[in-house]
Order: sequence, then C-alpha cells, then structure tokens
Amino acid sequence: MSYLTDKTIWLTGASSGIGLALARELANYDVRLILTSRREDALEEVRKSLPNSDKHQVLALDLSQPEEAMAAATKALGDTQIDILINNAGVSQRSLILDTDLKVYRQLMEIDYFGVVALTKLVLPSMVARQSGHIVTVSSVAGKIGTKLRSGYSGAKYAVLGFMDSLRAEVAADKISCTSILPGFINTPVAHNSLTGDGSALGEPDQDNASGMSAEDCAKAIVKAITARKDEVVVGKGLSKLAPLIQRISPSYVRRMIAKL
Ligand SMILES: NC(=O)c1ccc[n+]([C@@H]2O[C@H](COP(=O)([O-])OP(=O)(O)OC[C@H]3O[C@@H](n4cnc5c(N)ncnc54)[C@H](OP(=O)(O)O)[C@@H]3O)[C@@H](O)[C@H]2O)c1
Repeated sequence: MSYLTDKTIWLTGASSGIGLALARELANYDVRLILTSRREDALEEVRKSLPNSDKHQVLALDLSQPEEAMAAATKALGDTQIDILINNAGVSQRSLILDTDLKVYRQLMEIDYFGVVALTKLVLPSMVARQSGHIVTVSSVAGKIGTKLRSGYSGAKYAVLGFMDSLRAEVAADKISCTSILPGFINTPVAHNSLTGDGSALGEPDQDNASGMSAEDCAKAIVKAITARKDEVVVGKGLSKLAPLIQRISPSYVRRMIAKL
C-alpha cells in the first residue's frame, strides 16, 4: 500500500506539461483525481485517457481570478475532502523589466501566487479539522535565483516559497505536510505560454526548456517527493538542478554568471 492509496488529490495545471504528466503518473495509484485548469475540454480529454477514468473529475477554474475561483470551487466540491492539493498551474514570463507593463506583474502574481494562496486557504480548514493532509506547491529554481527576462515570474515564485515555509511552520502541529517543488528546465510548453511585456503569450518554444528534463521524469520525481513527504525538492538535470546549491555556496559567483548570460 502506497502513501497515495485511496487519496483524493486536487491537481491544478493538469491540462499540459508537468501537470498532465503528473495526472498520468498519479493515476497509476489507487487515487481519485480532481483535474483543474482553465480549459474544460482539454481536461476532459485528459480524464478520459486515464485508467479508471470514472473515478476522476474535472473542475475548470481560472486562477487569474482567485476569488471567483475559490467561490466556484467551494460550490463544485461541496463536502469532498481533499487529502492532497497540488498547486502546479502557473505561467512564466519572457520580457525585460523596462518593457513589461505593470498589469503583467499583477497577472503573474494572481496566477502564480494568489492562486496558490486561495486554493490552500480553501482546503486548509478541513485538513486542520481532520489533522491530516498535504499541500504541494510547484515553485521553480527561479524562486531561488532571479534571472533576466523573468522578474515578475521570479518574484511570484520567491513569494510562493515564503508562503509555503510559513504554512509549514503554522500547520506542523496539525500533522499536515507541505512540499515545495523547484523544477529546473523541464521540457513542456511553458515558454510558448509565457507572458511577454504586453501580456500576450510568447508563442514559441525555448531551447533551455526543450533540452531540459522530460515532463514524465519530472512527474516521477515529484511523486517520489510527495510520497516521502519532503519539505523542499529541486527537480531537473544539469546546471538548472545544481544552480540552487551553487548559489548557497557562492551567491556572488552565481549573480555574476547570470548578469553575463
Ligand atoms: N517547464 C519548466 O521548465 C518549469 C520550470 C520551473 C517551474 N515550472 C512550473 O511548473 C508548473 C507547470 O508548468 P508547465 O511547465 O507544465 O507549463 P505549461 O505546460 O504551460 O502548463 C501550465 C498549466 O497551468 C494552467 N494554467 C495557466 N494559466 C492558468 C489559469 N489562469 N488558471 C488555471 N490554470 C492555468 C494551464 O492550463 P490551461 O491553459 O488549460 O489553463 C496548464 O495546465 C508551473 O507552475 C511552472 O511555473 C515549470
């Protein structure tokens, strides 16, 4: 019997990339999945493709509107008890600070930070009452190291790590686990979907992501981290995995290197 057996798992960002691979990996266990993102039709395709598809459900939400998403989810979920929430949905950025509208910073914070806070607040009271539960949030190596073209994304991913650290401390006595995942470069459509300075999507892939770890290997590593109830795990390969460690040893070296890139 696995830690995951018979758990109800709410997974966001399940229509693409890491979330899609996670849905497929988690469905190998005896779990009930609630699959969330904006695109209901894409989520329904994912659900139907999974083993035991009838056990799983789709809940379309737009996390750029966290209050509305919370209200819609509260209504849709009713008394459903969530055992594990995986905050994976997210949007990246490819634009210089000088070229980026303030509204783009707000949008990145809404999805990558407030979306996480909203769904966590939604499931937490029941987890505390049951003295059981697990909150998982997919941040990024960009949540430890700021690089060019990702100022808003990095800000949101740093913020979400701080939120998770505070959450872990607050619920430690309530037997609730909190896991932060920091992927390096993973081969998904994340660059294609990244926001540019005016808020439009970049619409093209990016070599760093294309040569990164596969989404399937990333999903396996995330499931391993969840099962082991780790606090924080970096997932990836090559320099993008090693960067947080190098930064701890020599922050000034990493800063100099990034400025030259
Ligand atoms: N790939 C990487 O190299 C990498 C590295 C570090 C961290 N990450 C993080 O990993 C997570 C997954 O990213 P990915 O690489 O799998 O990217 P992806 O393929 O672009 O997937 C992003 C997911 O988020 C959902 N999403 C986007 N905006 C949303 C919104 N407003 N409301 C609800 N759902 C929304 C998308 O679904 P819909 O379009 O259907 O809404 C999609 O399912 C993100 O948090 C990302 O920041 C990725």
